Amino acid sequence: MHRVRTIEGIREALTTPDHAGRRIGLVPTMGALHEGHLSLIRAARRDCDVVVVSVFVNPTQFNDQGDLAAYPRDEERDAHLASRAGADLLFVPDVDQMYPPGDSTTVSVRGVSEPLEGAQRGVGHFDGVATVVTKLFIAVGPDVAYFGQKDAQQVAVVQRLVADLALPVTIEVCPTVREPDGLAMSSRNVRLHPADRQRALALKVGLDRAAAAITAGSAPREAERQGTATMMTLGVEPEYLAVVDPATFLPAEDLTKPALAVVAAPVGDVRLIDNLPIPPRDAGRTDHP
Ligand code: PAF
Repeated sequence: MHRVRTIEGIREALTTPDHAGRRIGLVPTMGALHEGHLSLIRAARRDCDVVVVSVFVNPTQFNDQGDLAAYPRDEERDAHLASRAGADLLFVPDVDQMYPPGDSTTVSVRGVSEPLEGAQRGVGHFDGVATVVTKLFIAVGPDVAYFGQKDAQQVAVVQRLVADLALPVTIEVCPTVREPDGLAMSSRNVRLHPADRQRALALKVGLDRAAAAITAGSAPREAERQGTATMMTLGVEPEYLAVVDPATFLPAEDLTKPALAVVAAPVGDVRLIDNLPIPPRDAGRTDHP
């Protein structure tokens, strides 16, 4: 696996005779690779001729400078794991490559980026994501880009971006990878205090409760109430627990269409998110209030 640090370098690497004209898969990451990322790299390896993994801790998507400073960074470990999972090229640009001096361009996806994560983290968060993802797509020119379902609202923002700009890339969404006890894998999990690790399960338990309430016939707002109450009994207060339309992230009303239960909560010093797809209900069925 080769490491490339510049946009010029990645373009050159991808136009060499052994890479030109072949199907390119991109796995965009901020490093601190875990099984979730590795499942994306393996999926890219199965589908594509050339697998590029980008590692860039994108400063513009952090609303909290403390969170940016505390973000785990270990290039050697990431390179080792990416290579073992099947990456051909590791793209590790520095901040000046992605945001050259005087940089003044932002890509902003309205609508889907505004509720929930957008409201909690500020509009700048998804502007930062949309901007860096656009830059990565332009630098690498992937045929397919791989994202995890775990960051469901990010996926919806990227899908909107690709549709609106008619970008010639297919977005592949891979399932959330979980620890054996159900905790969604996240680069932030390493920062959980051992005493908080067990409490972190409250997110998945709250989602399961909301999904079970819907299966039992509850209306979406009642399912949210039950999921939230369950989390509170486990000592975790959600910032939100919501049942939403997976394309718009607005409250789901019609449960005969696919919906998504989403949650965010601080557990100790660490903010975690998770989600659970809710399959469509039979059209004839009515809600309990
Ligand atoms: O999901 C992430 O790690 C980041 O948001 C991404 C897509 C790499 C953009 O910085």
